[in-house]
Amino acid sequence: METKEILLELRKKNRLTQDEMAEKLMVTRQAVSRWENGETVPSSDTLKMISMIFGISINYLLGQPQSAACPSCGTPIDKTRDFKTPNNEISNGETNTKHNYNNGGMTMKSILITGGAGFIGSNFIRYMLASDFTHKIINLDTLTYAGNLENLDTIRNDSRYTFIKGNICDGRLLDEIFTQYNIDTVVNFAAETHVDRSIVDPDIFVKTNVTGTHTLLECAKKHWKINLGDKYDREYTPGVKFIQVSTDEVYGTLGNTGLFVESTPLAPNSPYSASKASADMFVRAYNETFGLPINITRCSNNYGPYQFPEKLIPLMISNCLQNKPLPVYGVGAQVRDWLYVEDHCSAIYAVMTKGRSGEVYNIGGNNEKQNIEVVRLLIKELGKTDELIQYVQDRPGHDMRYAIDNSKITSQLGWVPSYTFEQGMKKTIDWYVDNREWMDRVVSGEYECYYRDMYA
Ligand code: NAD
Ligand code: DAU
Repeated sequence: METKEILLELRKKNRLTQDEMAEKLMVTRQAVSRWENGETVPSSDTLKMISMIFGISINYLLGQPQSAACPSCGTPIDKTRDFKTPNNEISNGETNTKHNYNNGGMTMKSILITGGAGFIGSNFIRYMLASDFTHKIINLDTLTYAGNLENLDTIRNDSRYTFIKGNICDGRLLDEIFTQYNIDTVVNFAAETHVDRSIVDPDIFVKTNVTGTHTLLECAKKHWKINLGDKYDREYTPGVKFIQVSTDEVYGTLGNTGLFVESTPLAPNSPYSASKASADMFVRAYNETFGLPINITRCSNNYGPYQFPEKLIPLMISNCLQNKPLPVYGVGAQVRDWLYVEDHCSAIYAVMTKGRSGEVYNIGGNNEKQNIEVVRLLIKELGKTDELIQYVQDRPGHDMRYAIDNSKITSQLGWVPSYTFEQGMKKTIDWYVDNREWMDRVVSGEYECYYRDMYA
């Protein structure tokens, strides 16, 4: 677009008269020249204006070495010193944050990853940072029993990474983060995720999975919508996207045949899946009503390194290694469609970068197994015997079979899984055997009480 067209568009969007527009431009021009002379820094409104006129991201503007500023308080940033945020909650690897706007480059993005200290979130952060991209990753995690900063030890000092301890239900904190880091992408992993816990105490599932997702959506709309005052306006800052990491469990259960497709009606059976389905409905509604650019991903069961040992595969590995009974629900005939966690990460990345706005993508590896098959495989690989198997009372409302039709993501986005089940299981078993200290640490404390109550 020509500069003139951009200016006309800006004037129309903000409903300004020609005089008001001229006035705004003059103020902007003066602010830019004061900024260039190193006298002061523009307000966040002026920065927005400059970024829109020149099509440059605010991150890029703030990346200019001579005079970066904290957009929330306007303080010029000396990039050699630590900068405390107002509530001191924000930290880089658990110490005070360093503003890190100096990555430069027009294409730099700021991605807010929620729940990044959990199983899939931490794998996703490592996956992203392993590439040579210039994005900035902000990991917001409240560190429940399932969140563990140890999962991110290998990347904690990467300058592209910042950790913030906080809750996705905290709208004020989200506001600060969106402003301070100029977030343009959200990948929402944060959730309560264990079905058995949701049966005992559903309350927190509603709070985090439903209210938390809604709070995030509202914040994204507020920060990304160009003309916030106009409820009919559907224009957003170019390039923004909200990715909701959902689950195949929202579809309920299958019989012996058939696969979940994206249009399968939602029929959740557990409080966990009901909360995830509710979150999906809010995400969908924000797209339908407000035009917020979104994608929803619905993946099958993941396995791999750093999974909390309350879930089937790490629980069975942990118990095998300790020669403890292996609690199989019912007769172990339920079927799950297993995917190695790195393949889930690459699928989310494909959706983030290529997914069509408003679309849902199912993710799965065509790898159905009965629970008892998985348990027997682990027993064999770990050199144990079937005597360890203990059939226990079944989970109430237990879904019989999940199976994903992944043809949409494979045909539209060109994603394919890289690992066979045998390869993924070998990597997983090796990792748990080599990381017994990690396992010992995470199963101590709260988890010991949970385990005693759950399998008493
Ligand atoms: P996880 O339980 O290992 O991790 C969840 C993370 O979210 C933890 O780090 C926790 O501290 C954090 N968290 C919880 N409540 C929070 C809050 N209110 N604010 C901020 N952070 C909070 O979960 P996971 O297995 O890594 O799953 C991640 C996402 O993927 C979830 O949304 C889940 O529904 C979805 N999913 C999981 C699977 C699977 O097989 N594990 C499959 C499909 C989809
Ligand atoms: O399908 C995706 C979902 O997969 C995710 O959305 C959930 O967050 C994740 O927890 C997982 O849900 P499941 O209930 O399928 O996973 P879990 O590992 O708890 O159980 C897998 C199967 O193994 C299930 O049929 C129940 C069974 N099971 C589980 C445990 C913990 C047992 O037989 N014994 C056990 O002790």
